[in-house]
Amino acid sequence: MCGIIGYVGPRDAGPLLLAGLRRLEYRGYDSAGIATLNDGRLVLRKRAGRVRELESLLADDPAPGRCGISHTRWATHGPADDANAHPHLGGDGAVAVVHNGVIENHAALRRELESQGIRFSSQTDTEVIAHLIAAELPSAGDLLEAILRVLPRLEGTYGLAAVCREAPEQVVGARLGSPMVVGIGDEEHFLASDPAAIAAHTSRVSYLQDGEIVRLFPSGFEIRHRDRGPITPRIDRIDWRPDAIELGRFAHYMRKEIHEQPDTVRDACRGRLRPAEATAQFGGLNLPPSRLRRIRRIVFAACGTSWHAALVGEYLIERLANLPVEVEYASEFRYRNAPLDDRTLVFVLSQSGETADTLGALREARRRGFPTLAICNVVGSTIAREADGGIYLHAGPEVGVASTKAFSAQVTVLTLLALHLGRLRQLSFPAGLDVLRAIESVPELLSRVLDREPEVIAAAERMAEARSALFLGRDLHYPVALEGALKLKEISYLHAEGYPTAEMKHGPIALIDPETPSVFVAPRGSLHAKTLGNIEEVRARRGPIVAVGTEGDDELARLADHVLTIPDAPEVIQPLLAVVPLQLLAYHVARLRGCDIDKPRNLAKSVTVE
Ligand code: F6R
Repeated sequence: MCGIIGYVGPRDAGPLLLAGLRRLEYRGYDSAGIATLNDGRLVLRKRAGRVRELESLLADDPAPGRCGISHTRWATHGPADDANAHPHLGGDGAVAVVHNGVIENHAALRRELESQGIRFSSQTDTEVIAHLIAAELPSAGDLLEAILRVLPRLEGTYGLAAVCREAPEQVVGARLGSPMVVGIGDEEHFLASDPAAIAAHTSRVSYLQDGEIVRLFPSGFEIRHRDRGPITPRIDRIDWRPDAIELGRFAHYMRKEIHEQPDTVRDACRGRLRPAEATAQFGGLNLPPSRLRRIRRIVFAACGTSWHAALVGEYLIERLANLPVEVEYASEFRYRNAPLDDRTLVFVLSQSGETADTLGALREARRRGFPTLAICNVVGSTIAREADGGIYLHAGPEVGVASTKAFSAQVTVLTLLALHLGRLRQLSFPAGLDVLRAIESVPELLSRVLDREPEVIAAAERMAEARSALFLGRDLHYPVALEGALKLKEISYLHAEGYPTAEMKHGPIALIDPETPSVFVAPRGSLHAKTLGNIEEVRARRGPIVAVGTEGDDELARLADHVLTIPDAPEVIQPLLAVVPLQLLAYHVARLRGCDIDKPRNLAKSVTVE
């Protein structure tokens, strides 16, 4: 949530920061702003709305200079207007600050500063930081020292960047609970909340850890811990190519990422399949088979789409490994007294690796002394670093705010995990090999699903007029139904509910009328006949029916108004196939309703606040 980029070097900072903000816009799009240093002056330009609003402001009124900071905002404190846009100034324009996170004691700090005669020009918590730094500057002597004095006063989380009039070739940044990464260039340096902002300029990066503060110059950078002094930075490489975040032939990132899913599944499997032993293997679990065999229960904690993927994992692990699994909302788990014991294995799942609630769940489990593993996409993210081990998704950067390919990567990894755990227990060699071969076939089958997009468009045309929809699925398809409903509501603003198919009769059936479509996830499988019966019940009440079904299923075709077909496939891989028409359905409904697909209202990628 919110995006930051800073620059110091020989180039004109304005256009470079603006291009970085465009890359970060998926992190927040309520307002955008930039501050540069030029001829001993701080130049500030900021505007409510999208980055393009800032762009037109800069076209009329450029911000010259070779050093600067910038921000794209997802509003927390104060509405999305010009005044609340970052950067915020302190000391009559001596200091400019951009900030991600939440300062929980901002009201008390504001009162204290106001009592000293300081006048605020915004309602943000960030402006407090700017005034505190400005107040320390004269006695501290430099920006880094001033920030070091202010940080202990801030309660909450921050990823921040600051520049100051007195230091024209310096950007200072700090991190506590909100990611920051240094980009290392040739006689130039970058600071960003997300490598996507700087990947076009350098692949050499150094991720800040909590409690660290960094000072960047054109020729180098230095990191210190706020309590422990200087640190030797660890240099990493961005593990994806900058063109991974180009739109290419697609109009939206969401559709691009949906179409990438055959590769996503391939990449999630790469190097992990062991046909000779009919199993899958993971390098990073850091747990020997003897330990894994002793596990009696698994707890998954996650949010949103990752929670839905975890629920697919529950069904799969129960099926293949006969192990009890509980799936927890990370936001609940972290504050509950969920019983754990030394034969419970805790996993957190997160695409971004930065979701505040999921990180909180990880920290709570670890605090209680339970080793905690992560299933995570972003390499080097906080969750990936803090976990005791885990599995990377290798899905590449996911830019669409509505998560799609990360879900598929998570479900792929969970299927492999279920296979691995199953083979350590009761799953026979031939049964394991069947699962493995099924997973291997997914990329090819997914390409066939994607070829059927015209069927989805026809169904979307019908659904775009609706006000509400039900998504129904049984067994492994129940989480897929939940995910289909979430996709639809978050990008099309059409109300949607996911339910286990048979639960419909216990209440939601009251909603059925000729204007309320029901979307059944109904590929052929062990419970298919029961699902057909439930579809009949909706038809009898004149409810429109869209169904995800297996090619050649004439019975389903007779009952449904629209069938979104997927190829015949073993049940364990059906969730990976069935979710794709639902992602496309949400996409096309949103498109037909004229919604801003990659930037749905009120949302932003990576929820780094509680
Ligand atoms: C929905 C969506 C969110 C995320 C959730 C968790 O499309 O993107 O529900 O799945 O915020 O995010 P991660 O997986 O990054 O922890």
